[in-house]
Amino acid sequence: MQQVVVERFGGVEELQWREVPTPTPGAGQVLVRLTSIGMNHADLMGRRGEYKLSTGDPPYTPGLEGGGVIEAVGEGGDASRVGQRVCLAPDAVRLSKGRPGTYSSHYVCDDDEALAAPDELPDDQLGAVWLPYLTAWGALVWKAKITPGQTVVCPAASSSTALAAAQIARHHGCTTLGLTTSPDKVASLESAYDHVVVTHEHQDGERVMRPWHRDMKQLTDSRGVDVFFDPVAAGAYLNTEIRCLAQHGCVVVYGLLGSPGTVDVTPLIRKHASIVSYVNDEVFSAGRDEMMRGVEHLFEGFASGAYRQTLAARFALADVREANEAMQRGAHVGKMVLIP
Ligand SMILES: NC(=O)c1ccc[n+]([C@@H]2O[C@H](COP(=O)([O-])OP(=O)(O)OC[C@H]3O[C@@H](n4cnc5c(N)ncnc54)[C@H](OP(=O)(O)O)[C@@H]3O)[C@@H](O)[C@H]2O)c1
Repeated sequence: MQQVVVERFGGVEELQWREVPTPTPGAGQVLVRLTSIGMNHADLMGRRGEYKLSTGDPPYTPGLEGGGVIEAVGEGGDASRVGQRVCLAPDAVRLSKGRPGTYSSHYVCDDDEALAAPDELPDDQLGAVWLPYLTAWGALVWKAKITPGQTVVCPAASSSTALAAAQIARHHGCTTLGLTTSPDKVASLESAYDHVVVTHEHQDGERVMRPWHRDMKQLTDSRGVDVFFDPVAAGAYLNTEIRCLAQHGCVVVYGLLGSPGTVDVTPLIRKHASIVSYVNDEVFSAGRDEMMRGVEHLFEGFASGAYRQTLAARFALADVREANEAMQRGAHVGKMVLIP
């Protein structure tokens, strides 16, 4: 099978593509031929040595999600599953289970970690669902408990996670605002959000933040924002979010894209507002039933057409360096996938 290995932390040149023997599933396991591997910002952080909690020390195989077709079942397994289209369960790819990442053409997991996928989910998206959609569902529905009529704001509006969040928030009756740092992406984001706001501009050749709190005030009729679904979480950006919160509003921090800086939390007291964090591990730790509640909701959403993923680009697994470089450039809108 094909596999990608990070031999040392560093640049894209550390991604090594190689052929290795295809593993055989043991009793209670299945072998999945991957047709889709979702790429995530965390893969870049991992390769650079900034996410050791997830990667451990090199050598390791990157990749947090995957999906495809069951090619073989282990001894005593249900042979009728061969040929079934599946998504690897959200918690199937975890270092704590001693598993490799998914940047490979085949993957062995437990039988109950290969979840039968809805027919409506195309082959090239089977492995690209959970990091965007379960993160958004977990943060907004499971943790922040969004309700109809609320305003949900999604920074990094062009990221797959924010785009998933916008669909989920809309489906739950909320108004959605997207925040992007990239003026050139606005046209391709307009249908995904009720409004898109550009947060940065160029002054004297430098990118600086513009006073986007005014847009929030105007777009919420001065009521403020109920929920920020925030992967930036730092400095002036977070200060602005706090300033824009409505009474009882909440910033749900799920990523750390921004640079650290001083943050004034005092307005939170006056507004009875809060900042909470969310990582998918939280829903995994709450037990399989909780995680499966999210999975079932999302599968239903894909089956009904309420949820539909935007693919930014597909790359062959053998072109993994080029794919990582493209993600690093940050010009994409939506999800990037590797196809073995
Ligand atoms: N908690 C969890 O379980 C979980 C799960 C999934 C992802 N995450 C986190 O979510 C974040 C996004 O991941 P992804 O894979 O969706 O990323 P991605 O597709 O690479 O998107 C990154 C986008 O973020 C925006 N951005 C980058 N730097 C920024 C900054 N300093 N300030 C404001 N916006 C910035 C840009 O969008 P614009 O051009 O539109 O501004 C950029 O295109 C990462 O931090 C990741 O670790 C967390």
